[in-house]
Amino acid sequence: MKEEIHNYTGEGIEVSYDVRRCIHARECVRGLPAVFDPDRRPWIDPNNADADDIAEVIERCPTGALHYERTDDGPEEAVPDENTVTVTSDGPHYVRGDGVIETPGGGELLADTRMALCRCGASENKPLCDNSHLEIEFEALGTVGDEHADDVGPGTTDRGGPLTVVPTPDGPLHVTGLFEMHGEDDASVFRGTDAWLCRCGHSGAKPFCDGTHARVGFSTEGE
Ligand code: SF4
Ligand code: FES
Repeated sequence: MKEEIHNYTGEGIEVSYDVRRCIHARECVRGLPAVFDPDRRPWIDPNNADADDIAEVIERCPTGALHYERTDDGPEEAVPDENTVTVTSDGPHYVRGDGVIETPGGGELLADTRMALCRCGASENKPLCDNSHLEIEFEALGTVGDEHADDVGPGTTDRGGPLTVVPTPDGPLHVTGLFEMHGEDDASVFRGTDAWLCRCGHSGAKPFCDGTHARVGFSTEGE
């Protein structure tokens, strides 16, 4: 995973932006165009809005490219009470919650409340999305699939606590912890504690892995 972080100082707030994680979802531009203006240099000017408003818009950034630290007494970003995975159509998995990406050996790679995980197989910043799905014209439904709609977790409505994502070498993303996964339309839902999510782009059971990665020779070399 690569990072390229730029920092911007405003009244009561420090904004950080990781170029490598931005996939131009434009939540920031839509939310506060006076602060986030891609046609201006520097493109982020945190002096053009109130720190509370900037913090609120930054928390909408689905990839975690944007973060903030308050330098006044304002609240820092809270860890969400619930872990959710959103399967986007033709794009990545958005994770929100108490997320941590770990190596298969248990080493922490990234802890964040927001991240976008590659599921097309083409990202050069695996396991994170780098917008390569657009380049390869990846096509996949933004749904969980009916056959998985009733995989409800073991008798609990709690969806909180640590959510661990392990990108397995040449294979799927292993997600463990209490979480809810839904499609972009919110119509199909998977609730569970353990799932293997396809990240090679070729599973016939997306968003889940069906073992096709081995047949297509999916490689995560250099991850
Ligand atoms: S909301 Fe996040 S991912 Fe979207 S354009 Fe802004 S910084 Fe990039
Ligand atoms: S990772 Fe795609 S089928 Fe297993």
